[in-house]
Amino acid sequence: MPFDVNSLENHWMPFSANRDFKANPRLVVKSDGMYCWDYKGGKLIDGSSGLFCTPAGHGRREIAEAVYKQMLENDYTPHFQLGHPGSFELAERVSRLLPEPMNHVFFVNSGSESVETAMKIVMAYHRANGESQRLRFVSRERAYHGVNMGGVSLAGMVKNRETFPVTLPNIVTMRHTMTPEQAFSKGQPETGAELAEDLVRICEPYGGSTIAAVFVEPIAGSTGTIVPPIGYLKRLREICDEHNILLVFDEVITGFGRTGKPFASETFDVTPDIITMAKALTNGAIPMGAVAVKDNIYETVTNASPENAIEFFHGYTYSAHPAACAAGIATQKIYQEEGLFDRAADMSEYFLDAVWSLKDHELVGDLRGYGMMAGVEIKHDGVAGRRGTQLQKDMFWNGLHVKFTGDNAILAPAFVAERQHIDEIIDTFRKTLDQHL
Ligand SMILES: Cc1ncc(COP(=O)(O)O)c(C=O)c1O
Repeated sequence: MPFDVNSLENHWMPFSANRDFKANPRLVVKSDGMYCWDYKGGKLIDGSSGLFCTPAGHGRREIAEAVYKQMLENDYTPHFQLGHPGSFELAERVSRLLPEPMNHVFFVNSGSESVETAMKIVMAYHRANGESQRLRFVSRERAYHGVNMGGVSLAGMVKNRETFPVTLPNIVTMRHTMTPEQAFSKGQPETGAELAEDLVRICEPYGGSTIAAVFVEPIAGSTGTIVPPIGYLKRLREICDEHNILLVFDEVITGFGRTGKPFASETFDVTPDIITMAKALTNGAIPMGAVAVKDNIYETVTNASPENAIEFFHGYTYSAHPAACAAGIATQKIYQEEGLFDRAADMSEYFLDAVWSLKDHELVGDLRGYGMMAGVEIKHDGVAGRRGTQLQKDMFWNGLHVKFTGDNAILAPAFVAERQHIDEIIDTFRKTLDQHL
């Protein structure tokens, strides 16, 4: 397929091996449903919904048309002291999916911004609540909370922070929840809940009253899918309650059906104080993220200021951009009308069984999964990440897109996937693994 590009040099690509890519580019020129096409005409099945963004599949006309219509009607309204109806409609639709009493939504433009915004909301809340001594954040090893400075400060993945040593102070990490006896456990591991006691151990020397919030991904996604042990998240909630610490679930990946319910919070029956989200909010079509908070957080921050004053000195030029809101509304309608969260729940068993068919492959070191996401850990070849990187490239040319982090493949198909799509993903995955034996 033709494309009008003379040089690949000018674009400094994110999270990419630029020199390697430019020598042999994996350029995608079209996408539709479960598939994408590269510039040579090769057809690829999308095994990871892009980057966990497209549960409704690619190329949804309803979304494209809603954005087009919005752009012709009202392309841009600033949100500082002005508004347009779309943001209110989208906030209401998202609120309906959230656990009670979480009915207030702050819009941003990405997952990273949602994390930064959540950190600032936490600080604003404690200050308004007369507890500005709560200066410490707790996160977790192997955590991914985006790439802005707050998120990097919370990060538990070394590659994402070792180049940037000047991060926020006062951040303490708990251990991650993966233990050797959990190997190949499908769904929630039965062991490991006691790792939540790390939070007690942090409260002891620092004092629970100095901790502002605990940030966790309910399922740690980017690191390769670490599913929370049974009872772990509930125990974190209890400890937070004991010390009035806010619990933040980063649901940038798990939000909007990935675990079979709108949010993982509902799936695991634990209500945090704040939920961050992005990606599937607009089915990946337009960049957008959001932070949802419990009513008392919104009310405390808002009521702490005089009636006529700005209550929260934070926001982005493109917060709640009309195009993003239009994409979000159209996306939420699709999820609802097509019952896509239920569909994800129904397809999960077939999907996870298919992934577990890789269990005996010589190169597979571990499998983890829940709902419509699964991690396949590839045994490294002596150099961490080398085999995974090569596999990802080979899978592409074999007709499969999969997100890899080092040697961990993260499979997360769209919820519109049929069984034959799941089969195709796993067959191509296996075939490519075989080529590496
Ligand atoms: C849990 C989590 N938080 C935050 C982010 C950052 O999102 P973005 O890349 O949209 O900034 C991601 C991205 O994968 C994520 O998985």
